[in-house]
Amino acid sequence: MFETKMLSSGESSIKEAVKLLKNGEVVGMPTETVYGLGANALDENAVRKIFTAKGRPADNPLIVHISDFEMIKPLVKEIPELAYKCAEEFWPGPLTMIMPKSDIIPSVTSGGLDSVGIRMPSHKTARAIIEKCGFPIAAPSANLSGSPSPTTAGHVFNDMNGRIPAIVDGGFSAVGVESTVISFENDAIRILRPGFISAEDLKEITPNVIIDKGVIAQLENGAIARSPGMKYKHYAPKADITIIDGNLDAFRSYVAKNKCNGLICMTFSDSDCDGLGVRTLSYGDTDEKQAHLLFDTLRELDNIGAKKVFARCPRKDGVGLAVYNRLLRAAAFQVVSFK
Ligand code: TXA
Ligand code: MG
Repeated sequence: MFETKMLSSGESSIKEAVKLLKNGEVVGMPTETVYGLGANALDENAVRKIFTAKGRPADNPLIVHISDFEMIKPLVKEIPELAYKCAEEFWPGPLTMIMPKSDIIPSVTSGGLDSVGIRMPSHKTARAIIEKCGFPIAAPSANLSGSPSPTTAGHVFNDMNGRIPAIVDGGFSAVGVESTVISFENDAIRILRPGFISAEDLKEITPNVIIDKGVIAQLENGAIARSPGMKYKHYAPKADITIIDGNLDAFRSYVAKNKCNGLICMTFSDSDCDGLGVRTLSYGDTDEKQAHLLFDTLRELDNIGAKKVFARCPRKDGVGLAVYNRLLRAAAFQVVSFK
């Protein structure tokens, strides 16, 4: 058991975090997407502590974070041409690229796979920590396995208190959903997990952008996930969530017909349920706002003890696809469609 320290993101705190990381410990740290649970990606024992702290299945690989493009070279066997182009356009930022791993990446880090996902975050504090460590940092989202990803240091504390020595507070994560994860296939980019860098953004690099089936479909029993994270239950608050896929009128009439005691509606705006006599939590009326607030809203549902939730459906393109992908899992794929 640790007494988990909350550190500011000032210089002395960064120093303290770096010291812990250099000693093979795990530190909660901010990034622009969500908070990460960082440790030295090249140190097996340090990485094992991440899996223990999160309760993460050993076959779910970690993303390796770098602060400078040069850091990537020893970590991978080859860098596809498209990866150079993506790095130039989108790094530092919320994009993770999967490449064949070199031998210096321990198999604990890669969940036993022969590939590794690499990302260069743009958050200043994250960059400073990696740079000062001088080694790449493996970091999954800093939530307990199965619960919503953390977008504030407080969320991390709620999940990790006693499990890690320190958390660096870098404010509310700007993006709010985890990075876009892509792999490369000949001249195509495959999106394994949608994020703030959208399919439309990636089409600027190549027209051959494939959205993996697992992004919006439930994996069939026995199917092999290209990205192991897709097979696990995710982002789940305790409430039973149903997504209502339709316009505001359809949503309102569904709520009116099916409302029950203790129902909470997850809406785009505070006025969506006016006159219906139900409690609402709005998570924003644009893709970006929804991405920013989704996980905070899911955690809030638990805080207020929500049992049953009807959620308005995000868009399924642009950044909306990332929101939809996370909400679908939080709702265990329960969707009522009016389209
Ligand atoms: O924004 C983010 O990506 C955050 C911050 C902290 O950087 N990290 C994050 O990590 O979301 P995590 O571990 O919660 O999610 C990583 C996802 C998992 O679904 C994992 O299965 C997939 O990426 N992944 C990682 N390495 C992979 C690989 N080599 N091949 C296929 N999928 C991989
Ligand atoms: Mg995660």
